[in-house]
Amino acid sequence: MLGLKLETDPRWADIASKSLEDILLDHAWCEQKAASSGISLIIIFPEYREMVDEVTEIVAEEWSHFERVLGELKKRGLHLGKARKDEYVIQLAAIEKKGGSRDQQLVEKLLLSAMIEARSCERFKILYEQLENPALKKFYYEFMVSEAGHYTQFLTLAKKYQPENDVKNRWAEILEAESAILKNLEIRGDRVH
Ligand SMILES: [Fe+2]
Ligand SMILES: [Fe+2]
Repeated sequence: MLGLKLETDPRWADIASKSLEDILLDHAWCEQKAASSGISLIIIFPEYREMVDEVTEIVAEEWSHFERVLGELKKRGLHLGKARKDEYVIQLAAIEKKGGSRDQQLVEKLLLSAMIEARSCERFKILYEQLENPALKKFYYEFMVSEAGHYTQFLTLAKKYQPENDVKNRWAEILEAESAILKNLEIRGDRVH
């Protein structure tokens, strides 16, 4: 359903479920970044009313995700350390096409957001399937469902501002580029991506 070109290497699931505390720490920052990037969209493109309304809701959800992950950290006596460098997001941001009309610039950012949502959703699905603790299973199941919804919302929004065919073509390119990025990234069990 997510159309990803490359499935996560099964070795990731193995190591990730063994370093859950690191995954939770990294996950907290992912949620913070998702909320911040939604806020940036609103700041950069305030005239897109429908996008502002939808993204405002997404930001609220991402922030509640952040709170939930913080709660899990607290239960384990952990707290946020310094934010980590997210190599995946850095490399993905580098493929962003600059220039063009405002509509094109907005759509580019919406598609990159959809991409991160799709990959996060896939990773949360793996955690949901692999983890044995029932509370954490439910926790990751709920994140998986929520991020799948965001992925759909970002893609649907993109189609409102550019011809469907252009969006489809660019989306196909982004999926290709993302799989190449992932192929070359080190598999780390202490990172969501
Ligand atoms: Fe989230
Ligand atoms: Fe999300």
